[in-house]
Amino acid sequence: MEMIQLRNITKVYKRGDQELHVLKDVSFSIDKGDFVAIIGPSGSGKSTLMNMIGLLDAPTNGTYSLDGVATEKMSDNQLAQLRNQKIGFIFQQFNLLPRLNAMENVELPMIYAGFSKKERRQRAQQMLELLGMGERGHHKPSELSGGQQQRVAIARALAISPSLLLADEPTGALDSRTGEEVLELVIRLNREGNTIVLITHDPNIARHAKRVVSLRDGLIISDVRNETGEAGAVLEAVHA
Ligand SMILES: Nc1ncnc2c1ncn2[C@@H]1O[C@H](COP(=O)(O)OP(=O)(O)O)[C@@H](O)[C@H]1O
Ligand SMILES: [Mg+2]
Repeated sequence: MEMIQLRNITKVYKRGDQELHVLKDVSFSIDKGDFVAIIGPSGSGKSTLMNMIGLLDAPTNGTYSLDGVATEKMSDNQLAQLRNQKIGFIFQQFNLLPRLNAMENVELPMIYAGFSKKERRQRAQQMLELLGMGERGHHKPSELSGGQQQRVAIARALAISPSLLLADEPTGALDSRTGEEVLELVIRLNREGNTIVLITHDPNIARHAKRVVSLRDGLIISDVRNETGEAGAVLEAVHA
């Protein structure tokens, strides 16, 4: 079943009288339960595309349906509501709020999604335990290592049981061992049924996805499934 349908998406930024065409006619769909890596060099439009998929930004043109719901005519409030109910985000720089402790950070999206205080506390603790951070709820982000902060950020993303998990360079700020641990977690979440879109410029990370979409200059230049073995060749070409 298709969860995401993007049709003829374009994004144009205006700088003075200059137009920057960051996404040029991007169309693709993502099935429920899939694990898609979006790869491409810096500046190719990956984060812009993730912001569209995450309903953080609207395309200049084109249509986007999430779980069969057309989003293009929605108000900002409706978009925020849909986002808060359905999408979990993981960012390169973790984006935890520094004044809140780990537990409060994990609770935050549940506040927006309308959970009661009791539910929030219980579920935040449960999520932190799932990520091996059960003892760290009272720690501020500055008291945690990068890997621990990313675990808290993943717990936060999972707190609302999102139908879609979006990760933009989730291992980019981590040392390679911690990065591998975070990647293992993402793989496990997909095995457990979560739909995942992972953005990375690193072919070694992308090779763990089930499907690899390559972006260049705002266009999809290839789209292959890993099972066929084709993705290996695409990723080696990126390496070369
Ligand atoms: N808000 C913005 N205003 C103007 N230009 C932007 C904005 N966001 C991104 N860009 C430009 O769009 C291009 C693609 O950016 P981005 O999607 O962040 O690429 P990637 O994530 O692949 O590195 C870059 O040239 C970037 O400078
Ligand atoms: Mg980016």
